[in-house]
Amino acid sequence: MEKVVEVRSVCKSYGSSQVINNCSFEIRSGEIYGLLGVNGAGKTTLMKMILGLQRLDGGSIYVLGKEADGGRKYLSDIGSMIEMPVFYEHLNAEELLSMHLALMEKKADIPEVLALVGLGGAGKKPVSQYSLGMKQRLGIARAIIHRPRLLILDEPLNGLDPIAITEMRELMRKLSAAGISILLSSHIVGEIRHTADRIGILSGGYIRQEFAVEETAAQYGEGFEDYVVCVMAGNDSEGAALKRGGM
Ligand SMILES: Nc1ncnc2c1ncn2[C@@H]1O[C@H](COP(=O)(O)OP(=O)(O)OP(=O)(O)O)[C@@H](O)[C@H]1O
Ligand SMILES: [Mg+2]
Repeated sequence: MEKVVEVRSVCKSYGSSQVINNCSFEIRSGEIYGLLGVNGAGKTTLMKMILGLQRLDGGSIYVLGKEADGGRKYLSDIGSMIEMPVFYEHLNAEELLSMHLALMEKKADIPEVLALVGLGGAGKKPVSQYSLGMKQRLGIARAIIHRPRLLILDEPLNGLDPIAITEMRELMRKLSAAGISILLSSHIVGEIRHTADRIGILSGGYIRQEFAVEETAAQYGEGFEDYVVCVMAGNDSEGAALKRGGM
């Protein structure tokens, strides 16, 4: 199976504080990989390194077979939304997406993509008049409009209402079915378990546990979320005891 992202033995410190410590994982072609970790676990840092926006102290990262360098050509194969999307708010969505397409040297049907993320009819409104959820939707539109092969979405469900969350999940599934690989982060187990195919739990600076969601959810039954929270907190053995038929 083709590997879309390969993170190998990556280390990263900010000053004397080591955030990522010998971290390795892979994302397979066409899958939705959920990166789960508590606040400050290093999810955003890892995503920025994959995008070539942060320097690694050690190890290596390959995306679509190329070393992560953040160059323009490299970025046109990736769509991303890191933390809260930032826009020139005096412009409207159509103008912003058109600038983005020019930068990526791609063409697309802007009203169609706006409709896809639930912003049909809002394309001519300045972004300064958008609600938080509308900005989040526009961030997703910007991440997908140039038809990337890999999507990196850092907590993309933040600020969305329950209906929008359901719509976004469906959109991610649809993009995944169309062959786009997705890396998704969250600190909320329930948010990610219904979207991701596999989950990697980032704790202590590395992927402490990694599993196929369906399989592990079946093994743990009602204890699944408690198990995941234990691992997120670094308590592997306490988590493992929650397995069906465990102690
Ligand atoms: N540019 C920076 N300079 C110094 N420290 C930083 C920097 N960016 C992040 N950190 C620190 O690195 C750690 C990991 O931060 P990061 O933003 O990657 O975590 P996260 O998992 O995305 O958290 P959250 O769920 O709150 O978004 C935190 O302790 C944070 O304070
Ligand atoms: Mg973060």
